[in-house]
Amino acid sequence: MKKIVAIYPGSFDPVTNGHLDLIQRGSKLFDELIVAIARNPDKGSALFELEERKEMLRAMTANWPNVTIDSFEGLLVTYVVSKNANVVLRGIRAVSDYEFELQMALMNRKLDQRVETIFMLPAEKYSYLSSRIVREIAYFGGPLTGFVPELVEQRLREKVSSKQASVPVLQSK
Ligand code: PNS
Repeated sequence: MKKIVAIYPGSFDPVTNGHLDLIQRGSKLFDELIVAIARNPDKGSALFELEERKEMLRAMTANWPNVTIDSFEGLLVTYVVSKNANVVLRGIRAVSDYEFELQMALMNRKLDQRVETIFMLPAEKYSYLSSRIVREIAYFGGPLTGFVPELVEQRLREKVSSKQASVPVLQSK
C-alpha cells in the first residue's frame, strides 16, 4: 500500500495544546507526519525565533516516532513536493477558520494538482485556542495552564519578561 506522508504546516508561535492534539491525531492516521514551521515574511516579526519554535515542538513530540519537525521557506506546495509528501494537514477549529482554510487549500491545489489538503478537528476544548491568544495572555501575565505545555509556558514567561513592552502579541494567528 502507498505510504502517506503528511505535512502539517503552520507558524507555531508558539505550539499550543490544540496543535499537539492535532499532531497526535495526525500521527495515528498517517505513516509519517512532518510538522513544518513556515518562515512567512507576511507575518511580521514572530515572538519566538524559528530555532526556539523548533526546539519546543521537538520536545513536545519526542514520544511520537513517526512525527518529525522541520521548517520551510517559500511556497508550501514546493516544500510538500520536495518531501515526496501527498497530503497537507490543517486543523479547523470553528466556522471562522473555514473561509481562509478553503481559500488556501483550493489555491494550493491550483498551484499543484498533486497536493491534497485534509482537515481535522481538534478536541472541542481547544476550539477557542490560538497562538495569538496565548501570546496575549502571557503578555498580560494571565494563566496558561491547559493551553500550552509547561515547557512552553516557561518559555513564554521568559520571553515576555525579556521583551516587556515590545512583544508583538497581537500579530498573526
Ligand atoms: O499557522 P498559520 O499561520 O495559520 O499557517 C499559515 C501557513 C504558514 C500554513 C501559510 O501561510 C503558508 O502555507 N505559507 C507558505 C507560503 C504559501 O505557500 N502561501 C500560499 C498559500 S495558498
